[in-house]
Formats: sequence, C-alpha cells, structure tokens
Amino acid sequence: MSFTLSPLPYPFEALEPYIDAKTMEIHHDKHHGTYVAKLNAALEQAPQLHEWSLEDLLRRLSEVPEAIRQAVRNHGGGTYNHDLFWNILSPQGGGAPDGELGKFIARDFGSFDAFKEQFSQGAANLFGSGWQWLAVTPEKKLKLLALPNQDNPLSQGLVPILGLDVWEHAYYLKYQNRRTDYIAAFWNLINWKQVEKNLLKV
Ligand SMILES: [Fe+2]
Repeated sequence: MSFTLSPLPYPFEALEPYIDAKTMEIHHDKHHGTYVAKLNAALEQAPQLHEWSLEDLLRRLSEVPEAIRQAVRNHGGGTYNHDLFWNILSPQGGGAPDGELGKFIARDFGSFDAFKEQFSQGAANLFGSGWQWLAVTPEKKLKLLALPNQDNPLSQGLVPILGLDVWEHAYYLKYQNRRTDYIAAFWNLINWKQVEKNLLKV
C-alpha cells in the first residue's frame, strides 16, 4: 500500500487574492507531492507498517522502527497536514463558525474574537517553520498549539481540526517576510463547515 497525493479540492487560483495561484501550485504539486513520495520511500523499508493508516503512523510514532521514524514524522506529517489544510480552506470561506463548533469556541476561549487573537498570535510567534493548530483533547476540549516542522498533534494524543501552515513556502511569493499579513488573509478562507465536521468526527 502506498499513499497518494490527493488533488486540490479547487483550482489553484480559487483562493486569490488571499493566496496566489503560483504559491498553491508549487505548494501542492511540489511540496506536498514530495512529502507523499518521501513517506512512501521510507515505508518501503517497513512492510509491517503497510496496513497502518496515516493517522496510525502519526499516533503511534514511537512504535515506528527507529530507522524510519524521523522520515515518517516529517513526511507522514507533511502528507497529513497538507491534506487537512487544503480541506479547511475554501473560496467561500471566512466569517465565524456557528453550530457546535461555535459553541465549543465560546466555551473554551470566551469568544470567537479571543480565539482568533490567540490563534493568530501563536502563528505569528512560531519561530522558523511549523504549523499553528487547533486541536481536540481526549476530554473534548479545544486547545491551541504551535508545533515545529511537520509535527502533528496526533503524536501528542490530540486530534487536529484546523491548522495554518506558516512555513515560508506557504506565503513567501506573495507576502515575503510579512507573515502577519498572510495570517490575517487566512481568516477570509477558513471553511468552518469542514472544521466542524473534523470536530464532530473526534
Ligand atoms: Fe506547506
């Protein structure tokens, strides 16, 4: 069994003007594609893992043979994280969540604006490359965490439901060093219905 690069759920230019088509093309076809290819290459050495789902690989990272553990962490994470990312973005995104997700956010952060502020701060303050996450704890609480590289909340026993890629490859062509402008643009694209689906699956 090997993993495949899922197609983007919309055209490259669909998220303009917030994320430009060239960035989307390189980000999906080259960066995401490379994570998938390198994950598959690493797994060739471990046939005993071929029935494991991507979630299992990240959840049970400590059981992955040491020789390929770092590769699975980086490239398995890269594969999973980008799949999640493309799906929580939408040309019809933005606004604020209602329904169950809206209630969870109000309960755990006080208000949507407080949540937005904390998430944005975390993304801005993350040093180097990584992701800002909104994840669900085993007690069904929402939790913010900023993780380096392609590390995934699954490896800490949490379930990610929303993530923002703050690697420079996600924004540099359009925003150069202005990460905070990219973070501000992100709020116009969030597909809250998908984030709520991710929450309700936990
Ligand atoms: Fe990325």
